[in-house]
Formats: sequence, C-alpha cells, structure tokens
Amino acid sequence: MDYETPQFFRVIQYAQQADRDVIDMVSGSPDWDPPAGLCDGLRDYADLDAADYQYPPSVGLAELRARIAARRGVDRSRVLVTNGTGEANHLAMVGGLEQFSGEEVLLTDPVYPYYAGRANFLDADVGFVPVEANGRLDPEQLRERASDETAVIVVNSPNNPTGAVYDADAMAAFVAIAEEHDALLVSDEVYDHFDYTGRFTSALDCGSDHVVATNAFSKSMAITGFRVGYAVFPPEDGPTGDLLDRARTRHMLTNVTGSRPAQYAVLRALQTTGPEYYADVRARLTDRIDTFCDALDDAGAAYTRPDGGFYVMARFEDYPGSFEHVYELIDETGVAGMPGEAFGDSRSKWFRFALVTPRVDEAAKRLADFFA
Ligand SMILES: Cc1ncc(COP(=O)(O)O)c(C=O)c1O
Repeated sequence: MDYETPQFFRVIQYAQQADRDVIDMVSGSPDWDPPAGLCDGLRDYADLDAADYQYPPSVGLAELRARIAARRGVDRSRVLVTNGTGEANHLAMVGGLEQFSGEEVLLTDPVYPYYAGRANFLDADVGFVPVEANGRLDPEQLRERASDETAVIVVNSPNNPTGAVYDADAMAAFVAIAEEHDALLVSDEVYDHFDYTGRFTSALDCGSDHVVATNAFSKSMAITGFRVGYAVFPPEDGPTGDLLDRARTRHMLTNVTGSRPAQYAVLRALQTTGPEYYADVRARLTDRIDTFCDALDDAGAAYTRPDGGFYVMARFEDYPGSFEHVYELIDETGVAGMPGEAFGDSRSKWFRFALVTPRVDEAAKRLADFFA
C-alpha cells in the first residue's frame, strides 16, 4: 500500500466527478453543529483589541492549557497545543524515534493511514500487528511482535477504522510493553468523546513516562477546520523529560505558534459546554450505527459494530473492498466509502463507511438494495 499519498482524496475526487447524486461516507468531517459557545467566542473575538490579533504563546493559550490539563489530570506544563491531532502525532512520533533506541514504529493493521505515511516519511522501519476479528489489538500479539528494535508503538482508541475501544487492562498492557522495550507509546485519543461502552481509558491514567497522549477538538466539537489539538507529554523533570522540550522547539520552529482565534473560541466552548452536548452527539451516532448495521444485515454483509468513533467496516460476499469496487459503488448506488485496502492488508476485502452524513438512512437502503 502506498501510504505516502493520502488516498481519501482519490475517492473524494471520483465521487465529485460522478454523474449522479453521491452520499459522502468517505471523510471524517462531522456534519453536526459545534457547541453554541464556540460560535459565541468566535463572534466576540472580532471585537477584541489589536493585541489579541497577535501571536499567542507558542505552547498555546495558558487558560486553554489549564482546562486541558484539568480534564486530563496532569500538570499544565505537560500540555502543548498543536495544529490538530495530526501535528501532535507527528511531534510524538519524531520524539519517540529520536529519544529511544531502535528504529521501528509499530502500528496496527488496519491502520489510520496517516500514521504509516508519517512513519515512512520519517524513514522508520514500519511494523504492523494485525488486529483480531473484533477489530481489537490483542496485547499478546503486540508483546510477541515488539522488540528492542521498537522505538514507538501507536495505538488509537476509540479506533479509526475498526471502532475498537480499549479498556484499562488493555491500555495498561500496551503501556507495559512500551516500557519493557524502552519505547514510547503514542496514544491517539481524538475520538475519546465517542465511546459508546463507557470502557474508554486514557493511556495517561497509567502514569507512565513512556506515554504521549494526543487529542484535538476537531471531532469532539465538530471543528476539523479549526486545527486546535494537543499532546500531553511526560513530565519535564522525569527520565523522558527531553521529549517535551524538543517538541516545543520543533512546534515553534515549524509553526511559530497556533491560531489565536481558534484557541480562544475552543476555550469559550470548554467553559460553556455541558456534558449534554457530547451525549446528544453520541445519541445521534448510535442511531446512525443502528440504522446502518440493520441495513448491512439486510444486505447479508459481515461487519464489526463500532464500540466507539463513527466508522463502520463491512465486507460483502464476493465483493472485495478495492478501489475499483468503491468506484463501482459510487456509480451504481451513489454511496461513497473507503476501500479497506487503504488501511492495510488484514481488512483489504472490507469497506469503511463514515457515518458523518444525515443521509445514513438513504445510504443504507441503497446498499441493501444493491446487495440484496
Ligand atoms: C485516528 C485519527 N487521528 C488523527 C486524525 C486527525 O485529526 P486532526 O484533524 O485533529 O488533526 C484523524 C482524522 O480523521 C483520525 O481519524
């Protein structure tokens, strides 16, 4: 698989050029509204003084970092505000490869393709550990595969694309494996608000110096265009304290800093948004998952019902999830999904559908009719 060229755009482009109405289930951009406080913050920003139009601190607005730190139960000094989870993952992976011995980045198969693309781009040796049939990474499989050559292990919970959510035991096992091999566990938790099981555990809860947790408001506040994310690094006065200092420098040299209005609006949203906002979004998505999975049953498809996140992977008898079949589904049904082969070998016969469209119902019917 060529992970260096993002494949999403290929499919989106094909769908846009199609000669018919197409329901987009390709991208991971939420279709619901952000919290009202976010929009208020943005509007108020326009009336602030000239000083507020200048660089914010490179590590992020102090109050925003304090809010993030309080939610995560860590000291504010450990929080670096980044340009989305994407930059946070990049800084964490670069730091792990630099700080720890070994050249290998271990990923799951299927994988969120940007991890693999980034690892290739960083000239790391890339290893893949296939997940179980239920979409979860078995800690024993990871233990068997990890070695002293491993510098970085990346896990993602709730998971894109499989919908797996790791509980406290699984997370503790992943952290222990990273510690045993003197590696860094990068835990991408960008879908943490989309846990339907109550099982989600942050890797930070393990209190290890071998963990960087990454996250953003991109999905939880439906603002993928704002680019406000963060990484929580191990404490600076601990044995892996250099990770934070280097990440700060790298972030500053690359970006100077992040966007002040976007951080201001996110801060306002954090101050004013209650748990019901996130609960409403989860309820909306649970409905969509039910509708879509019912239709997959009607179509005779195999699928894993997600425990978290907003993607469903499905497999249709004698119809592998190749790019050709994705294009055919666009032409024949007007439903655009992603080919499983874009996520690795183990699910190359599957498709991934993103439930971020109000037309899940219609998409489900179209697929059920096509495959019935
Ligand atoms: C697992 C995972 N990590 C990171 C990202 C990128 O997040 P951000 O937009 O905050 O950079 C995505 C986006 O789909 C994702 O699915």
